[in-house]
Amino acid sequence: MLFACPLLIKIVQSHKRLNQFSLGVLLFLELVTLASSQNCPVNCMCTSTDVKCINQGFTAVPKHLPEHVKDLFISGNNISRLSVDSFPDLLNQLTDLHLTGDKIEQVEPNTFSNLPSLRLLDISNNRLLSFSPEAFFVNNNLQELNLSRSLYNYSYINEISNLLQNGTSRLSRLDLSHNDLLYLPENIFSNLWNLSRLDLRNNSLVSIRNGTLRNLHLQKLDLRENSLRELRNSTLAELSLQQGIWLGGNPWNCDCIEDLVLWLGRAEQVMDRQELVCAEPERLRQVRLLQVNRTELQCTFSDDMKGVLETSYVFLGMVLALIGVIFLFVLYLNRKGIKRWMYNIRDACRDHMEGYHYRYEINSDPRLANLSLNSDV
Ligand SMILES: *[C@@H]1O[C@H](CO)[C@@H](O)[C@H](O)[C@H]1NC(C)=O
Ligand SMILES: *[C@@H]1O[C@H](CO)[C@@H](O)[C@H](O)[C@H]1NC(C)=O
Ligand SMILES: *[C@@H]1O[C@H](CO)[C@@H](O)[C@H](O)[C@H]1NC(C)=O
Ligand SMILES: *[C@@H]1O[C@H](CO)[C@@H](O)[C@H](O)[C@H]1NC(C)=O
Ligand SMILES: *[C@@H]1O[C@H](CO)[C@@H](O)[C@H](O)[C@H]1NC(C)=O
Ligand SMILES: *[C@@H]1O[C@H](CO)[C@@H](O)[C@H](O)[C@H]1NC(C)=O
Ligand SMILES: *[C@@H]1O[C@H](CO)[C@@H](O)[C@H](O)[C@H]1NC(C)=O
Ligand SMILES: *[C@@H]1O[C@H](CO)[C@@H](O)[C@H](O)[C@H]1NC(C)=O
Ligand SMILES: *[C@@H]1O[C@H](CO)[C@@H](O)[C@H](O)[C@H]1NC(C)=O
Repeated sequence: MLFACPLLIKIVQSHKRLNQFSLGVLLFLELVTLASSQNCPVNCMCTSTDVKCINQGFTAVPKHLPEHVKDLFISGNNISRLSVDSFPDLLNQLTDLHLTGDKIEQVEPNTFSNLPSLRLLDISNNRLLSFSPEAFFVNNNLQELNLSRSLYNYSYINEISNLLQNGTSRLSRLDLSHNDLLYLPENIFSNLWNLSRLDLRNNSLVSIRNGTLRNLHLQKLDLRENSLRELRNSTLAELSLQQGIWLGGNPWNCDCIEDLVLWLGRAEQVMDRQELVCAEPERLRQVRLLQVNRTELQCTFSDDMKGVLETSYVFLGMVLALIGVIFLFVLYLNRKGIKRWMYNIRDACRDHMEGYHYRYEINSDPRLANLSLNSDV
């Protein structure tokens, strides 16, 4: 409306000689055209560069947004699907787009193609089921993506992985917090060469797979409030290349984390390393990792397993020996019967052998063989 005043004065001046009625009509028409070129959508609030359409129950992005909009907030509405029709007009100046709490489920290809300057997309607090890797302008300049609390459930992280690998190579900040993620798909961050801040707070990650952080040089990595119990050497090697790491609020199992604790002792980039506490075993609960004595950190679990295995071998040996003794004892008790049995077998064999011997001799004696042949003829 700032533009309106000089224009109105001009209108009044140029139409001075017309009568009141036509002046009124013209004024109205001018205002209508003014409004449609410089409009603020109904139920939204606009300043020269911001447009805010908040909690209005919109079921789609309002049409005819002012072309000079830089920051657009469309929050707390009910927009289940975003597509190429959501932003039909070229908005060259739009850099920051906030679409939070809009119940968004699908983001289709080319949704943001008309927003070539888009730098920040905050699509947190939604229920995403799909997000096309072709949603953004090719060669887009997206630097910040906020996906906090935005997945329908953790299984849709594969959609996001595909997006991050193919659609957003300039990203420098990524927020994936509060998504209940159980794992990170392989190579999810492998294409984000410029990523500097990664927020994975309050998920359910149980491990950081080898290679997940390869190529990254983060300034801030937030892994607080996950389900990490230990970190293996290969993960520690990758963490060593990052800065500003936060690891608090994980249920560390202090039975087996000698490597981790040794590493923590040197790793000044772990900002909250003094506050990490054991969750297991019972005797070390709530003890700070850096204050546990080294001897207590060794893997008693696997030592126990070794012990269990050793006892079970001894036990097996004893059982086998006992069976052998019983067998011999039975033989001894039965020695008469066995002797009789063996004689019987011997006799049976002898009879058999004699019969065989007899037949063999007949067959091998040529005369007898001829005799039998002749008699056959
Ligand atoms: C949101 O929109 C859907 C249809 O797209 C409708 O069924 C639902 O009732 C709406 N919810 C609210 C709170 O307006
Ligand atoms: C992402 O959005 C949430 C709220 O929806 C906010 O608390 C958080 O700070 C945002 N993250 C970033 C990196 O701006
Ligand atoms: C995630 O949501 C999908 C679709 O609604 C459902 O089929 C699947 O079981 C859910 N997964 C989990 C782990 O809840
Ligand atoms: C995204 O990249 C992955 C591997 O880099 C590939 O398998 C997949 O087909 C790509 N998807 C699209 C839509 O380009
Ligand atoms: C990476 O980020 C730095 C600043 O953080 C920026 O100067 C550089 O242009 C970025 N590179 C790409 C490819 O976006
Ligand atoms: C952690 O994330 C879950 C969703 O995964 C959410 O319900 C819960 O409120 C979050 N906790 C905090 C402290 O933000
Ligand atoms: C982790 O990956 C590196 C290189 O990709 C490989 O050399 C190493 O053996 C892997 N470590 C484990 C424990 O898989
Ligand atoms: C982890 O690395 C340290 C030295 O960096 C080594 O002493 C230790 O044996 C390794 N642990 C395992 C389980 O490979
Ligand atoms: C570690 O050992 C020291 C003495 O060597 C003892 O004072 C301390 O209480 C022990 N810490 C734990 C957590 O057992």
